[in-house]
Amino acid sequence: METEIIIHNSISLDSSLTGFMPDMSLHYKIAGDYKPDAHLIGSETIIKGIEMFGEEVPEELPGDFNPSNRHSSMPWWVIVDSGGKLKGFLHTCRRLEYCRDIIILVSERTPGDYITYLKERNYKFIVTGKEKVDLRMALEQLREEFNVARILTDTGRVLLNILLNMGMVNEISLLVHPLIIGENGYSIFSNVNRNLNLKLKKSEQFENGCVWMVYSVEP
Ligand SMILES: NC(=O)c1ccc[n+]([C@@H]2O[C@H](COP(=O)([O-])OP(=O)(O)OC[C@H]3O[C@@H](n4cnc5c(N)ncnc54)[C@H](OP(=O)(O)O)[C@@H]3O)[C@@H](O)[C@H]2O)c1
Repeated sequence: METEIIIHNSISLDSSLTGFMPDMSLHYKIAGDYKPDAHLIGSETIIKGIEMFGEEVPEELPGDFNPSNRHSSMPWWVIVDSGGKLKGFLHTCRRLEYCRDIIILVSERTPGDYITYLKERNYKFIVTGKEKVDLRMALEQLREEFNVARILTDTGRVLLNILLNMGMVNEISLLVHPLIIGENGYSIFSNVNRNLNLKLKKSEQFENGCVWMVYSVEP
């Protein structure tokens, strides 16, 4: 059985992923209701998140070296980071109470000092792919080793468009916010390289003016 992948994003009416502050509580309420086994997150999204919400990266403490011991109903955070960009930052993610623990996806070209950093801190990691992570193989290993059968993406255009282009996405969940970003927007689907047929599964409007739309991706 294939792993189920749901893309979930907050966008503006003109499809930008950036340039506004999404309704975070609604965004993550919807995400949580999917009860995913894991969130799949791009390294750039983590970096932007730390910049947006963190005042300063807190000092790493001895307790940060231990795996989190949170309940198995919590989702893993699976982060694609073949370049080791998040060296020195991962404890900020591990500390988040809604993350079971972190699993890092790396490749054969990932710098050795990053692998050492991961090992010393008992971060779980999976090595696939030569340069970049081989996402299909990584997902297979996630399924076999960690029972990850349903993944909700929490990522930007780059990673989610790769997943769409690989034909790996089952469902697209969009929380459309009532604003237009215009020429400075970062349009969600502009790297998709083929036509995709969708089927509307659900739509719902909220008092804050957001509309939630859920589409299945036709095979
Ligand atoms: N509104 C929303 O719902 C929402 C949600 C999330 C993020 N965002 C915004 O989106 C922006 C960040 O998104 P982004 O599009 O720059 O990047 P991203 O999707 O966060 O990160 C790019 C990811 O793609 C991976 N990647 C690139 N090429 C690959 C390949 N050939 N094979 C496998 N993996 C590959 C990279 O891995 P490596 O590190 O290994 O290269 C990296 O993890 C931020 O501004 C953030 O605020 C918005």
